[in-house]
Amino acid sequence: MRGFWRPKARALPQRETWLRLPGKIGTCLSFGRRAHMLRASDATGGTVREEDGFVFHPRLFENRNVVVTGAGRGIGLEVARQFLDCGAKVIVHTGRKPGRELPDFLLTAESERRALLLHADFSAAGGAAQFAEDVLAFFDRVHVLVNNAGTMLGRFPAATLTDAEYEAIVRLNQTSVVALTRALLPALKAAEGAAVVNTVSISALTGGSPGSSIYSASKAFVATYSKALARELAPDGIRVNCVSPGTIETDFHERYSSREKLEQTRKSIPLQRLGTAEDCAPAYLFLAAPSLSGYITGQVIEINGGQLIC
Ligand SMILES: NC(=O)c1ccc[n+]([C@@H]2O[C@H](COP(=O)([O-])OP(=O)(O)OC[C@H]3O[C@@H](n4cnc5c(N)ncnc54)[C@H](OP(=O)(O)O)[C@@H]3O)[C@@H](O)[C@H]2O)c1
Repeated sequence: MRGFWRPKARALPQRETWLRLPGKIGTCLSFGRRAHMLRASDATGGTVREEDGFVFHPRLFENRNVVVTGAGRGIGLEVARQFLDCGAKVIVHTGRKPGRELPDFLLTAESERRALLLHADFSAAGGAAQFAEDVLAFFDRVHVLVNNAGTMLGRFPAATLTDAEYEAIVRLNQTSVVALTRALLPALKAAEGAAVVNTVSISALTGGSPGSSIYSASKAFVATYSKALARELAPDGIRVNCVSPGTIETDFHERYSSREKLEQTRKSIPLQRLGTAEDCAPAYLFLAAPSLSGYITGQVIEINGGQLIC
């Protein structure tokens, strides 16, 4: 396990050394109520630049413990970055293996004790449970859990899909979400105003493209599981919502879609472009912040440029 945070049994560092606000304020956003936003210049003391627009308040997640899975790249990485920019302490699940090349902001956050970097393979039996154990060694309360790790693992025609392939897809995209959420429930209950945000997919509604049936079905499972959980956990003050990306330009599509297919998709999208991780991340922060979305639970936010309007 990488990282330097001391397990909770030992004395924690003073707050000032534990959490330092980042020097650079993150992506421009125009989300949420004015009280939770400020101009980039307000936060940095710098000059107002029109292109900076508004950002979430850099203290929106101060003193809040956040866990983001699948955050070594793609959507999860941007989600982790924006939580860090808003003052959270973040356990960043960087992926299956150690040694992934990580951007400077994560390494800086790690050295400043604002982030702890862990890895775990959620396709392996017990992978999610082991990760949960590692999380609980550092956090006795979890304010935000983002279950984002996932992928198609390949395109598998229905007729030739093997049991091993089926199990690997389900274990990663479905079982690990249940296992991690269950293991962290006591820590979510212990935190005031906790939120779970699960990444699903447009394919949960459309069925996805050929060869993605089990992946798409596993995302539909997570969407429905999240709704049921939202009802069940509401008495504990825990909100559960989903973000459902459309076609987002990450390594995901480098692996599973040709350039031609992506271009065809782009043309079919009302906003005429593919999405980016930056398009998706603000929705996670919005759903995680009780001050912004405290009356929203059991919902799925679709982020797809209008690809699916129904
Ligand atoms: N991109 C899209 O268009 C799109 C659309 C709908 C939904 N989604 C969903 O959005 C989420 C993020 O996807 P992305 O586009 O950001 O893809 P990505 O860039 O491929 O990132 C996927 C993340 O999940 C992790 N992961 C994959 N297999 C894992 C395993 N067996 N155990 C633990 N972690 C594993 C990856 O770690 P490694 O680096 O170790 O592989 C990586 O951190 C996924 O749940 C995906 O299904 C994406």
